[in-house]
Amino acid sequence: MASLTVRKLDDAIKAELRLRAARNGRSVEDEVRVILREAATVTSSTVATGNRAARNAAIPAGRNSFHQSNGLRNITLIIGGGIAAYKALDLIRRLKERGFIVRCVMTNAAQQFVTPLSAGALAGTHAYTDLFDPGSEFDAGHIRLARDCDLIVVAPATADLMAKMAHGLASDLATAILLAADKPILLAPAMNPLMWNNPATRRNVAQLARDGVAMIGPNAGKMAEAGEAGVGRMAEPTEIATAAARILGPARPQPLEGKRVLVTAGPTREPIDPVRYIANRSSGKQGFAIAAAAQAAGAEVTLISGPVDLDDPAGVTVAHVESAREMLAAVEAALPADIAIFTAAVADWRVAHEGAQKLKKTAAGMPPLQLVENPDILATISKLRDTRPPLVIGFAAETEHLIDNARAKFARKGCDWMVANDVSPGTGVMGGDRNTVHLLTRDGVGDEIKAESFPVMTKEDVAAMLIERIVSTVTDQPT
Ligand SMILES: Cc1cc2nc3c(=O)[nH]c(=O)nc-3n(C[C@H](O)[C@H](O)[C@H](O)COP(=O)(O)O)c2cc1C
Repeated sequence: MASLTVRKLDDAIKAELRLRAARNGRSVEDEVRVILREAATVTSSTVATGNRAARNAAIPAGRNSFHQSNGLRNITLIIGGGIAAYKALDLIRRLKERGFIVRCVMTNAAQQFVTPLSAGALAGTHAYTDLFDPGSEFDAGHIRLARDCDLIVVAPATADLMAKMAHGLASDLATAILLAADKPILLAPAMNPLMWNNPATRRNVAQLARDGVAMIGPNAGKMAEAGEAGVGRMAEPTEIATAAARILGPARPQPLEGKRVLVTAGPTREPIDPVRYIANRSSGKQGFAIAAAAQAAGAEVTLISGPVDLDDPAGVTVAHVESAREMLAAVEAALPADIAIFTAAVADWRVAHEGAQKLKKTAAGMPPLQLVENPDILATISKLRDTRPPLVIGFAAETEHLIDNARAKFARKGCDWMVANDVSPGTGVMGGDRNTVHLLTRDGVGDEIKAESFPVMTKEDVAAMLIERIVSTVTDQPT
């Protein structure tokens, strides 16, 4: 199958694509897909006449948007160019603590106060700054940022942003999102008291209230400007986060509330000497996604992770370990649990005699590296008597004979479910964002192993699927 790089198209086509994508409320990538689908499915005459019905028929009914797919609540946070922009960084944390997924958009002026790097690092995802971003191959698009969320928060909402909103301007990414929004908007104004009390700002505030825009603050207090005080301080991040939570209403049902979930993730590192180790290519993404999904479902989650390059999921207790033996000890310390999900790629072997000092080249040739078996964490926990979690799920990463090897591993380990995934290099699963899994369970009657195969999905969607299965299993069981 040929691949297409939007970045390499000529500029006129890219500009036309962006406009078309913006008009249709899609990313450029989605727009290209729709065009290709149209070309493949609609006859040339209907394309030539621009038959709208045929075009619409080619558009998927429900886009797999960010917030639809992850099942969590999403906030687009617009950071305006005020001195209080630094507090927006804390606000990101407060919103994440409450389980919201945050995507940041920054005005040009905001970037004079805080960097997109800081906002993006705290949010855990790229901060958006440009309406027309020539460097972005798959432009998220202002319409998507406006729609693929449950709430838009503007903090600090500058006098300038509020004036533009009140007058329907859309001259940059932030204002275009606000104008295109079909979701509730919460403003946290912050400005000098003279700006706040200016008749123009008063008119704009009144207009925005009539337009149904919600507001928190500003509070009274001292200003950044020496000696000035009055109404104009941005509400505190916790106040804004509480207001956001109130607007969004009670959180989704928490079907795993009261359940303790234990997840392992990532690789292990088995030391050879103080500076070298044996490791593997596991990124930990699948386990982190599962931990986040279990947390969103209300579980009390402990994630035990090998060395990975990922942010700890919000609201999850994380223990960072290196070796298989450390991972086992951390797992045992985290018991009891109701559900244990072992996604970590634990090294099967370690070096028998770890060098106390860095091994040196010698005339005698290469040092003999004798390997010994590591503890089998999945089997150990599955075979516990008193503290065995009622539901133990293993992951089998295989590069060949996937289902057969996974079945054999399932039979050997004593766990309740096994998730098999093909991690051969061509799949891009190790380190990638997608996964193709097969869920092996036991038939209640004859203890037959049955395998259910799923299409390629994002690791978040695999996590959501697994948590849904867990919910229906544990909530079916008598307590
Ligand atoms: C040091 C400094 C602090 C500022 N603080 C504020 C502020 O707190 N509130 C505000 O409305 N404008 C403030 N401004 C003015 C805005 O930065 C300016 O109006 C800018 O155009 C706002 O752009 P934006 O609304 O696109 O973010 C400040 C400007 C400077 C230079």
